[in-house]
Amino acid sequence: MNPLNHVAIIMDGNGRWGIKNRKSRNEGHKEGIKTVELIIKDSIKHKIKYLTLFAFSTENWKRPTKEINYLYKLLERFLVTKIKIFEKNNIRLNFIGDRNFSIKIKNLLKSAEKRTSKNTLIQVNIALNYGAKQEIINSIKKIFKMKKRINEKNIEKFLYTFDVPNPDILIRTGNKKRLSNFLLWQLAYTEIFFEKKLWPDFNSKDFKKILNMYKKIKRNFGGI
Ligand code: FPP
Repeated sequence: MNPLNHVAIIMDGNGRWGIKNRKSRNEGHKEGIKTVELIIKDSIKHKIKYLTLFAFSTENWKRPTKEINYLYKLLERFLVTKIKIFEKNNIRLNFIGDRNFSIKIKNLLKSAEKRTSKNTLIQVNIALNYGAKQEIINSIKKIFKMKKRINEKNIEKFLYTFDVPNPDILIRTGNKKRLSNFLLWQLAYTEIFFEKKLWPDFNSKDFKKILNMYKKIKRNFGGI
């Protein structure tokens, strides 16, 4: 059976869920938060050590301001209301992506990381203003600046995920088969599962089904 340390998720389909249910796209995002909470709990149950969630990409700034503002308000409310639960339940929060935010958001992220930094049950990485191509370019720039050798080890050293093992599983909900500039380097040998359901409809049973499918796969990492 394959070891399972790290699950990464592209939580797609919130907007469509809102429209499908005669609500707004923003209400779809709000509903998506419930699935975030459920999957964090389930990941703990399944003894997963790292969960990485794609919450906002560098390309998502193309969306209407109203939707962007709503997403960041949701994140803010999520952090403010849940931080105690994360603290108490030994859950570590870590944010990956470009921190080019307002002072308020920057401080919120820093404080959530600091308050949970000693926690060890699971590490939840939230990708915010994240783009994989930029992450790789930044890493190479740093190597250049330090006059070091360009090799795999050094590139990995300067990725946001330098201290996180590569994902074993990537799940993308929402019935689209693409990677959307998410963890392009780290997913080189990851098992990928595309799920038809929209993120707010994704549930514990769907998650368990994917974990069970993963366990049965013969992983070769380029060998035979
Ligand atoms: C993709 O659905 C989802 C997002 C861009 C945002 C995901 C954010 C959340 C679930 C809430 C915030 C998360 C945390 C961790 C606090 P989409 O809008 O692209 O859906 P569509 O494909 O139907 O348009």
